[in-house]
Amino acid sequence: MDWWKDAVFYQIYPRSFKDHNNDGVGDLKGIVEKLDYLSWLGVDVVWLSPFFKSPMEDFGYDISDYKDVDPLFGTINDFDELVDEIHRRGMKIIIDQVYNHTSDKHPWFIESKSSRNNPKADWYIWKDPKPNGDPPNNWISLFSGENPQSAWEWDDNRKQYYLHLFGKEQPDLNWRNGEVKRKIFESMKFWLDRGVDGFRFDAASHYYKDPSFQDALKGPQVKKTLFHSARDEYYWDRFSGRPETLLAVEEIKRFMNSYGDKVSIGEITSDMGLCLYLIFTISGRFDLAFNIDFMEKLSLNAKKVRELSENVNTFFGERAWPSYVLGNHDNYRIINRLTNGMKVGENEKKLIAKLAATLLLTVRGTPFVYYGEEIGMEDTEVPYDKIVDPWGKALWPRKGRDVCRTPMQWNGEKHAGFSEVTPWLPINSNKAHVNVENEKKDPRSILNFYRSLLKLRKSHVALRRGAMHFIDAPDDIICYTRNISKEKIVVLLNFGSVPKRVNLSTHGKVLLGSHRGIGEDFYDQDVEPFESVVIDVSK
Ligand code: GLC
Repeated sequence: MDWWKDAVFYQIYPRSFKDHNNDGVGDLKGIVEKLDYLSWLGVDVVWLSPFFKSPMEDFGYDISDYKDVDPLFGTINDFDELVDEIHRRGMKIIIDQVYNHTSDKHPWFIESKSSRNNPKADWYIWKDPKPNGDPPNNWISLFSGENPQSAWEWDDNRKQYYLHLFGKEQPDLNWRNGEVKRKIFESMKFWLDRGVDGFRFDAASHYYKDPSFQDALKGPQVKKTLFHSARDEYYWDRFSGRPETLLAVEEIKRFMNSYGDKVSIGEITSDMGLCLYLIFTISGRFDLAFNIDFMEKLSLNAKKVRELSENVNTFFGERAWPSYVLGNHDNYRIINRLTNGMKVGENEKKLIAKLAATLLLTVRGTPFVYYGEEIGMEDTEVPYDKIVDPWGKALWPRKGRDVCRTPMQWNGEKHAGFSEVTPWLPINSNKAHVNVENEKKDPRSILNFYRSLLKLRKSHVALRRGAMHFIDAPDDIICYTRNISKEKIVVLLNFGSVPKRVNLSTHGKVLLGSHRGIGEDFYDQDVEPFESVVIDVSK
């Protein structure tokens, strides 16, 4: 039951995982090539970001055919093969579903914009201008940079505006139209029939908009995202977390239940943080929602991190199952975020990556690993003329999202073993030492640490299902227990750069640690700078 509570998910950004046909962009056959690596690593579920037909304005999050594979990535047969190969290795596969919007090149939109009275005229959100010609309201595009960009784009043919919460090439679908909804469910059916084990629903909190289309309120408090763009100045409640959206999610859930044990994961973004994740994941809705709030607030401040995870733990309690993520294709890499502004050497960086990994894989909730995190990949410098991310262009001179989407580093060769030709985004110059081949050989590498953590989760039910309790500890130290029936595990993380004494008041045996050997005794000892250690204290 609820296999996804025990599973570790691994996100693949298909453009950047492995390029099989050597055109500079990753593809489905490339992923098949690397499945043995994923099964060696010990992940349970592979999540693929979009590989559907798309003009690639937002690199696949702008879909022009929900039921086909873009030739850049391969064919539908390649996809079927990928599903089989994943299942053959005892893993599962989930894929993205992007139903807030389509591409403006989708035949539905092309028809919709052709006139005001065509059969699909109402499939998108069209509004008349204000009497002075202005857009119907003040909603802004979530891809705005420093300056707000309207979420409305003028169409000279219909003499109306259409809504696009993201880029102007991504018109929002009208979920209030029954035909649209029917098509969406048809597309889900298409992929479920091909054997996928679940979906990640993109921008799922935005499906229904406030039918009054009133202006959004502006607020000074509004949540600060990593990118601090103009979108943070407006409240999101006119289009995020509407009650109709929750009802639609319940319908999705009922539909997926008819296929048995599938998993549904919502990308929920709002200015209401945790609260909305919970609302979207209480029984009968999504199984999981990404805890983006946690990811964005994660720092090396032990007190704050304890507060964050303790909040999630208490708030979700028995009501819903939390999830954790350190990074994804929309955010800077975890090492960069944690060490921002610090002077750190390679060794400290490695320890900090292990600290984050230990946290991710031992707190109570389902963990998601972003490709490359397991080898300690960092943000890659992308010069202005190489920026391709539409939001990145708006954010410039600040970093956009390209920096975390660069090719996976398989080895130290020219193109890092990703491709034989120059890839679509530059490869990080640290590829010489940060790569799979190197790290596989090094018992103290981040990669082998991840692998051991994954093994540990598999062999200790307390780490997957056990209750979590935080224990007061010296400054900079996070200490919590995970326990279930007779199994009790203590996790100690030193978020600071000086050793701290910790007395467990019971003898324990080290299960895994960045500084200690497996099986060593732990009782009253110094926890070293940036050390992580997992200790068995079962009686
Ligand atoms: C989600 C995706 C992001 C994409 C956006 C629009 O936030 O994670 O990459 O740009 O939706 O589809």
